Amino acid sequence: MEVERPLLLTPGPTILHRSVREALAGPQLSHDSPEFLEVLGRLPGMVRKVVRSDSARVALVTGSGTLGMEMAMASLLSREDRVLVLESGYFGSRLAEIARMYAGSVDVLSAPPGRLVPADSYRAALETGRYRAVAVTHVDTATGLEWPLEDLARASRDAGSILLVDGVSSVGGARLEMDRLGVGVLVTSSQKCLAAPPGVALIAVSEEAARGLRDSGSLYMDLRRWIEVSESPGRYLSTPAVNLFVALERALEIVLEEGMEARWARHESNASFLRDEMSRRGMRAIAEAPSPTVSVFDLAPLGIDALWLRRELYERRGVWTGIGVGPNKSRHIRVGHMGNVSRAHLEFFLGALDEALAGRARGRRRPRIK
Ligand SMILES: Cc1ncc(COP(=O)(O)O)c(C=O)c1O
Repeated sequence: MEVERPLLLTPGPTILHRSVREALAGPQLSHDSPEFLEVLGRLPGMVRKVVRSDSARVALVTGSGTLGMEMAMASLLSREDRVLVLESGYFGSRLAEIARMYAGSVDVLSAPPGRLVPADSYRAALETGRYRAVAVTHVDTATGLEWPLEDLARASRDAGSILLVDGVSSVGGARLEMDRLGVGVLVTSSQKCLAAPPGVALIAVSEEAARGLRDSGSLYMDLRRWIEVSESPGRYLSTPAVNLFVALERALEIVLEEGMEARWARHESNASFLRDEMSRRGMRAIAEAPSPTVSVFDLAPLGIDALWLRRELYERRGVWTGIGVGPNKSRHIRVGHMGNVSRAHLEFFLGALDEALAGRARGRRRPRIK
C-alpha cells in the first residue's frame, strides 16, 4: 500500500484529506468577505449535527482545545461556585488545574490513570447538590480511557449540575450525543477526530447552560461574546484564522458525508482490530474502558523502549505515533486511530511494527564481534 510520509498515527494532529489541504491552500479570503461570511454562516449548523444537538449554541474560536476548556470554565464559573472534577490521568488533572483558576473551590475524585472513578463515588458527591458543574474528559488521550458518559450525565442532571465535557479527543470519533445525554458544555478542537488542521476550538453549549454564562472578565476568552460572533457572521471580535476555518468546513463536510453512525462504527471497529492485533503481539491496552479513538499500549512487559520503537517506525516506514505522557514516556506507545485513519493504515503500522521487532530480535541474536 502507498501511504504518505509521515503517516500520522498520533492522537492529534491527524491525517488531512487532500481536499482539506486544498481548502487550506486556497486564495486568501478576507474575514469580512462574502465568501468567508458564508463559510462562517454554515459552521455552527454543521457542528450541531456532529454533536447531535438541535439547539446548542456554538462558538468557534481561533486557538486550541485548551483555550476552549479555559473559555468554558472562565465563562461558567465564579468564585462562589464549587466544581467537581473526575480525574484519571493527565488531561483530567489539567481540567482540575483550569477549574481552580476560576471556581471558588474544586473537589477532585481521582482514579489511577486508565481507571474509572466508581459511579457510587461521583453519585454520592453529586447528591450533596453543592456543585455548579462537573467536569470530565470523555477520552483521556494519555491513557486511551473512554469515560462512559451516560450514567454521569444522568447523575449530574438529577443534581442540577452542569456537565462540562472535554471532548477534544472524542468528538467526531466516539459516540457523543449532546442533547440526548444533556451535556451542558462540550469542547473540542479541530485537529483530532474532525481531521482538520490544528488551530480552531469548537464549543457547544446547551441553551440552558448558555443562559447561565457569566462575564468571564476577559475579552478574548468570553464565551458569550464568541457565541454571538460565531452565530452572527459579520460581527467582529477579533480576526479569525480564516484559512483554518475554511479547511475546517471542508473537514466537517467529510465527517457529515460519512455520517455520524457510520463514523462512530468505523472508529470502534478499527480500535478493536488494533487492540486484538497488538494483544496477539503481547501488548495490551492499558485503559479499563478503551476508547475508539486512541489506544495506549504498555511496552514494558516486552522490555521495549517506546522512544526506540517510535524512531524505528519512523525511520523504517515513516510512521509517526505518540509515546507515553510524563513518567510513562519510554513505557507507552500511543496510537491514534481517529479521523481519517483507516484499517489499511493500521495494517501498514502493524507491518512496520513487525519489521521493527524482527530487526530487534535479529540484532539481539547477532554475535558480538570482539
Ligand atoms: C483530552 C484532551 N484535552 C485537551 C487537550 C488540549 O488540546 P489542545 O492541544 O488542542 O490545546 C488535548 C490535547 O491533546 C486532549 O487530548
